[in-house]
Amino acid sequence: MAKEKLRFVCSDCGADFGQWVGKCAACGAWNTLKAFNPGSGGNQSRRPASAAARSEPTPLSQIANGGGARIQVGIGEFNRVLGGGLTPGSVTLIAGDPGIGKSTLLMEALASLATKLPVLYVSGEESPQQLKQRADRLGIQGDNFPVLMENRLEEVIRVVEETSPAILVVDSVQTLASDDIPAAAGAVTQVRECAGHLIALAKHRNMAMFLVGHVTKEGQIAGPRVLEHMVDTVLYFEGERGHDYRIIRAVKNRFGPANEIGVFEMRADGLQEVKNPSELFLSERVQGAAGSVVFAGMEGTRPVLLEIQSLVAPSPLAQPRRTTLGWDSNRLAMLTAVLEKRLGLGLFSHDIFLNIAGGFRITETAADLAVAASLFASHRNLSVDPGLVIIGEVGLAGEVRAVSHVITRLKEAAKLGFSRCLLPKKVYNKLPGNLPIKTDPISSIDEMIERLGV
Ligand code: TYD
Ligand code: MG
Repeated sequence: MAKEKLRFVCSDCGADFGQWVGKCAACGAWNTLKAFNPGSGGNQSRRPASAAARSEPTPLSQIANGGGARIQVGIGEFNRVLGGGLTPGSVTLIAGDPGIGKSTLLMEALASLATKLPVLYVSGEESPQQLKQRADRLGIQGDNFPVLMENRLEEVIRVVEETSPAILVVDSVQTLASDDIPAAAGAVTQVRECAGHLIALAKHRNMAMFLVGHVTKEGQIAGPRVLEHMVDTVLYFEGERGHDYRIIRAVKNRFGPANEIGVFEMRADGLQEVKNPSELFLSERVQGAAGSVVFAGMEGTRPVLLEIQSLVAPSPLAQPRRTTLGWDSNRLAMLTAVLEKRLGLGLFSHDIFLNIAGGFRITETAADLAVAASLFASHRNLSVDPGLVIIGEVGLAGEVRAVSHVITRLKEAAKLGFSRCLLPKKVYNKLPGNLPIKTDPISSIDEMIERLGV
């Protein structure tokens, strides 16, 4: 066999290059390229036979869409992030910090699935005793719950071929290694090759598969972000220190809406679904506190009410502080400038702290108006009407711009007992008459500040 040329693979994104360079051209990371000899591993012999067979094009009209064939996981919040249940043959990557609850969630899900389908749980990082202890905590009997302690890829594939599970969990993909690849488990080439083989196997057998991936400090799936491109669905498991709730967010989903969230609470006996996250996020609100404003947000297809808090106070510093938690600091700078220009608040001499209560992160621009209201209210030490929610994007001229899903947001606000909503005039004109909440159209931030009080 001709000796193949050495390749260099980026350990962050998995891009490969013919020669070593200091900076990865694909992801911009420095010093992440590692030498990799493709001739010494990654051979294709274990790929299922069909992959090598001749292929023929099929008219699109003759392809079954497979819709309706979803498998219900038995955990409502999990079904929701998956886009309405688990799709057979789909590959889902579940990423998150160590200890956040990935194994717990997958064990709970698998225990419920095991009552109707053959399953297999492969663990490469825990001892049988650790798994058993967790199962006991979760109240899982486990008669139909086979577990395999293994980190050799070849063995995992052999067991899958012999036992034909319909659902496979690999916990975690970073502990797997193939004998054919001369790299340690967790190295980018190992992770990429192992995942590649398992994905081909899952697709070939129409087996649904969950891959667990650990995340590095920088918030990337350790080593190969390339996994994100290879799988159908990427779920991020998030949680805040000091809070028991956990959020699973679909950052990519070929079978459902992206950005959908599922909310859980970590209890002593496992993850409990939180059916109404708005209640959870508003539970500690002090009504009438200056600078506290409620925003009616959307996460995927679900409305979530969130409390925005700010503290604006005269600063002793030459360069006042600007601190945001859960909100983009550039967006804060923009809103501060708009408030300054339109209302002349003198914010340049004030420290500004902006916080989304509960450790949640808002990415929607629809929260602009609520953030502006919060900043203004804190600056003036003004209590905002506690029955008020606010939605609207703010433009550079101080104009209030339209937002989407207004009716869903309004219904959620009404359900939680809010009585009035400030919203963009553009959307107000299109609303139906029989809404469960009073609506107040706003076209600019100047108008907004007149309507904040009771
Ligand atoms: P785990 O699922 O092992 O996390 P991961 O697989 O993401 O590393 O969860 C570990 C944490 O969750 C651990 O700190 C203990 C806690 N936990 C509970 O609070 N309640 C439970 O029922 C279980 C099983 C774990
Ligand atoms: Mg784990």
